[in-house]
Amino acid sequence: MRAMDDLADVGDFYRDFARQEAKGESLTFERWAAGVAEDPEVLALLEGLPVAKRQPNLVFAAARWHGAATSAADPEYAALRSVLVGGWPHVRETILARSTQTNEVGRCATLLPLLAGLEGPLALIEVGASAGLCLHPDRWSYRYVDEEGEQFARLDPADGVSPVVLDCTVRGAAPLPPALPEIVHRGGVDLNPLDLSGGDTAAWLETLVWPEHEDRRARLAAACRVVADAPVDVLRGDLLTGLGEAIARARVAAPGASIVVFHSAVIAYLDEAGRHRWPGVVTGALEQVRADGAGAHWISNEGSAVLPGVSATARCEQVGRHFCLGLDGQALGWAHGHGRQLTWC
Ligand SMILES: C[S@@+](CC[C@H](N)C(=O)[O-])C[C@H]1O[C@@H](n2cnc3c(N)ncnc32)[C@H](O)[C@@H]1O
Repeated sequence: MRAMDDLADVGDFYRDFARQEAKGESLTFERWAAGVAEDPEVLALLEGLPVAKRQPNLVFAAARWHGAATSAADPEYAALRSVLVGGWPHVRETILARSTQTNEVGRCATLLPLLAGLEGPLALIEVGASAGLCLHPDRWSYRYVDEEGEQFARLDPADGVSPVVLDCTVRGAAPLPPALPEIVHRGGVDLNPLDLSGGDTAAWLETLVWPEHEDRRARLAAACRVVADAPVDVLRGDLLTGLGEAIARARVAAPGASIVVFHSAVIAYLDEAGRHRWPGVVTGALEQVRADGAGAHWISNEGSAVLPGVSATARCEQVGRHFCLGLDGQALGWAHGHGRQLTWC
C-alpha cells in the first residue's frame, strides 16, 4: 500500500496500482487501473479531485456504486469509462462524500498471534477503526494451515463456532494461542466512525471489496451482522490528536486491563509529516500508561514503506507487498493485506 500523497501523479499511481496491487488479486481492477493510466480525459477528471480522493479503491467503488458493471471472466475498461465520463457529477459527489474505509475482518487472523501473546485482559484501541470489525477478534473463528494446506490450529469463540471463519496460511513459528484473548474494552478513533446498525454503511463497505473477492464480501456481510449492535467506543477525530482521550476512556472503562493501541492500513492516509510523527505520539502516550504501572502495547500492520522505522527491524525478508506486522516498534512478521497469509520472522 503506497502513501496517499503519491497520488499527486495520478497516472503513475494507477499504473503502479495495476501492476503491483491489483495484478493477481483482481483482473477487473488491473484492467481498470491500466486503462485509467493511459486515458487523458479520465486522468483530467481525477486530477480535479483533492489528492486524497484520487485513489483507485475509492474511484472504482464510487463508479460501481453508480452502476459500472464488472465481469469476472472478461472485465472491460469501457464499463468503468462510460460511468466516469457519462456520470461524472454523480460519481464525483459520491467520491467527495464517502471514503475508502475498507474494513477487513480477515486482518484479525494475522493480528491474533500478537494480541494473544500479551497479558490480558485487553483494552483494545483501534486508530482508524472504520466500522470497528477488527475490534472483535474474540468473536470470529480461525483456521490456521501450513504451507501444505494442513490445518494445525483452530480457535473458536467461547460460545461456539462463529459464522465468520478466518483462514490463514502460516509460514514460520507464529505463536498461536490456545484460546482467544479476553477483551474488556473496544474503543478507538476514526475521522469518520461508521455505524453498522443502520443505513447503507454495510452496503458501501461491501462495494469497497474488490469485485472478484466474493469470499471476502460474504465474510464481511456476516461479520457486519454479528457485530451490528455490539457497542464500541470509537471517537470521531484525528488519531494524532485523539489518541490521548481514547486511552483515558479505556482506562476508566477497564481499569487494570492492558492497553493495546493498534492499526492496520491506516497510517498510509496521513501526510509525510503525520507518518513521521505517529511513532512518537503512540510510544509517548503508552509510556505514560506504563509509568502508572499498567500494561501498554502498540501493534502496527502497515505497508512496508509507511512506517520505515518499524519495517527496518524485520529479521526476515518481505513477502510480495505484504504488510509489516510490528509490536512496540519491532517488526515480527509480514502479513497479507487481507489476512490470508502470515510469515513469522
Ligand atoms: C482502509 S480503512 C482501514 C480500517 C481498519 N483499520 C481495517 O483494517 O479494516 C482506513 C481507516 O482509517 C481512517 N483514517 C484515515 N486517516 C485517519 C486519521 N488521520 N485519523 C483517524 N482515522 C483515520 C479512515 O477514516 C478509515 O476508516
